[in-house]
Amino acid sequence: MKFLKVLLLFFVVQTQAQQGGMWIPSLLEGMNETEMKNLGMKMSASDIYDVNKSSLKDAVPHFNGGCTSEVISPKGLLLTNHHCGYSQIQAHSSVENDYLTNGFWAMKMEDELPNKDLDVTFIVKIEDVTKQILNGVEALTSEVEKQKKIQQNIADLNKSFPKESFQEIKIRTFFEGNQYMLFVTETFLDVRLVGAPPSSIGKFGSDTDNWVWPRHTGDFSLFRIYADKNNRPAAYSKDNVPYTPKHFLPVSLDGVAEDDFTLVFGYPGRTTEYLPAVAVEQIVNETNPAKIEIRDRALKVTDGFMRKDQAIKIQYASKYAGIANYYKKWIGETQGLKKSNAVQVKKDQEKAFQQKVVKAGKQAEYGNLLADFDKNYAEILPYTLSRDYFMEVVLRNTELLGLGFKLYQLEQVQSTRGDQAFTDRKNNLRDGLGDFYKNFNVQVDEKVFEQLIDLYLNKSPQQFIPSNLKNTNIAQLTASVYGTSKMTTYEGVKELLTGDTQTVLKNLNNDKGYQLVKTLADAFLKDVNPKFESINTELSALQRTYMKAQLELNKDSRIFPDANSTLRVTYGVVKGYEPRDAVVYTPVTYLDGVMEKYIPGDYEFDVSEKLIDLYNKKDYGPYAENGKIPVNFIGTNHTTGGNSGSPAIDAHGNLVGLNFDRVWEGTMSDIYYDPAICRNIMVDMRYVLFIIDKYAGAKHLVDEMKLVHPKKNKQSSKKQKVKKNKNKN
Ligand code: ARG
Ligand code: GLU
Repeated sequence: MKFLKVLLLFFVVQTQAQQGGMWIPSLLEGMNETEMKNLGMKMSASDIYDVNKSSLKDAVPHFNGGCTSEVISPKGLLLTNHHCGYSQIQAHSSVENDYLTNGFWAMKMEDELPNKDLDVTFIVKIEDVTKQILNGVEALTSEVEKQKKIQQNIADLNKSFPKESFQEIKIRTFFEGNQYMLFVTETFLDVRLVGAPPSSIGKFGSDTDNWVWPRHTGDFSLFRIYADKNNRPAAYSKDNVPYTPKHFLPVSLDGVAEDDFTLVFGYPGRTTEYLPAVAVEQIVNETNPAKIEIRDRALKVTDGFMRKDQAIKIQYASKYAGIANYYKKWIGETQGLKKSNAVQVKKDQEKAFQQKVVKAGKQAEYGNLLADFDKNYAEILPYTLSRDYFMEVVLRNTELLGLGFKLYQLEQVQSTRGDQAFTDRKNNLRDGLGDFYKNFNVQVDEKVFEQLIDLYLNKSPQQFIPSNLKNTNIAQLTASVYGTSKMTTYEGVKELLTGDTQTVLKNLNNDKGYQLVKTLADAFLKDVNPKFESINTELSALQRTYMKAQLELNKDSRIFPDANSTLRVTYGVVKGYEPRDAVVYTPVTYLDGVMEKYIPGDYEFDVSEKLIDLYNKKDYGPYAENGKIPVNFIGTNHTTGGNSGSPAIDAHGNLVGLNFDRVWEGTMSDIYYDPAICRNIMVDMRYVLFIIDKYAGAKHLVDEMKLVHPKKNKQSSKKQKVKKNKNKN
């Protein structure tokens, strides 16, 4: 009987733990601690987050506002993904010193490379400030007035909340405006590049393997935080010293096994887990397919050029990777949402919700929510689509149009803020365009334009297409824009921007490329965006009420707030999965798998001689497990973009892995988390150590770290216990 109870409890815990969630670190104690311990965690909530003593959070800074990183030595050594440090590695690379291709290792601190525009931000403390921010809001009736009051309260608290001179205050909303949290942060500005493996390790498998399991990528790079003599944030100076952290993560040499507890700590960017069915339906059937089609065409054109021309390949490598990343993600997401019947699941949940509303006697407050969602989503759809086309075609994927839009904004500055503002902005823009043209190839862009403008004019909602662009001959339009526009060269655009205000405006408005952008942008800003914004404000208010209702009517279940780029804890266990009938994925990959994928000379699957040599000699140092080097592993941690570079931490608080991706079948977890197939992908820390030590010969970096054997210790203490018990008997 007791056994049954324990089994039952285990089952409940197991299923609950599989529900996903990105939790607020300061609220773990009441919310999650018990469950975490049931899953195997040996720490307490205060080991993870505490304001009075050092805790794990003190080792986990936000990396340049987009990725996560962790401190792994008492001298401020910082670990993140290769793809997170990619642009820094690229910035230091040249044909002679190609760190992207060959890797980079600073053999002493003086060789570490400073970076412009790179910072890391630590969280000092988190406080719930909902009361202060919502003070006086309830009394107001219009949504616009409410938002104004909230902004005012945020600004006031920002000013009055006590902090040190070297700290900042950030206030963020949770649960769509139902909760507000204040963060005291410290941002370090001197962060130097310490090491990076070659792309054949750090980006092994590239776009083919991206978002896919089984995976074999050593997606890591190393940086170091520098501080002033008082260990405080400071701009770069050669006199700065390595930062002494409040906490750094010990690195485990024991790795993980299936079902081991893991915790991923980081800054997930954005999820939308509480959308109504109608919204998910639009993503699956309308917006994702449109965006995928646009990027598919752009990528095909660019790829064709990149494969034929090495210079173009370098120019477009980074842009291509960025566009390809979300293109591929949207495909996986759409497939996953369909396969898991997410829309129907949501509809069923909504039925249950409606019944709960009735049962609680809350029809007046919540009874119309779902109908209002339906109505507003139906109304907003053409505006959303039109906006997506504008964003993807004009702003994101056709470079000439994107630049044209910047010039369009320049003209707007003139009409709203006058000549001086115009001139300042113009000079600024002109000086910054060198970087743009360095990576711009007009042949590539012309072909991309021809493909994408066709989609824009013929497939986006027709009621918003300006009349003079209806029935356009695409080939003629392309030839006329790319044959005459001055924007196709740096010289040309400098010419456009030369002279007094009136001359510049006249030249711009005579340019065929500019004219096209202006026509498109005028229509978008007049006919599409205002209406989109107003319905969207309405939808945000509905979403806030819907969230409030769910929190109120589901008091017994735990609900986590959507990701919002703030520090979160997600936890789970190491686990394989079954992607489809009769296929079983195990949770760990090994260096043997790298060799299986090896294609000599291939741009995605080449392996360097040095690594092959280490593999053949089995020269693995202390980093192997049963004679093999583990490379990647997966777990049930609920992660998203922004969790790149997040530490995967074991039951005791040691670093076992480095998060960098999710599996193909589970990419829909930003919208609908299915515990059966959603998995995050991590680099095994022993692969990281092996590459640093054995591959790069940078053992001095490993020596800085604190290496631990939590499992061996446990085993030896278990043995002792067994012995003791034996003695008793
Ligand atoms: N999919 C991972 C993440 O979203 C890795 C992206 C970097 N790799 C690439 N091939 N683009 O962002
Ligand atoms: N690669 C993603 C990033 O850059 C993390 C993976 C994910 O989206 O889950 O943040």
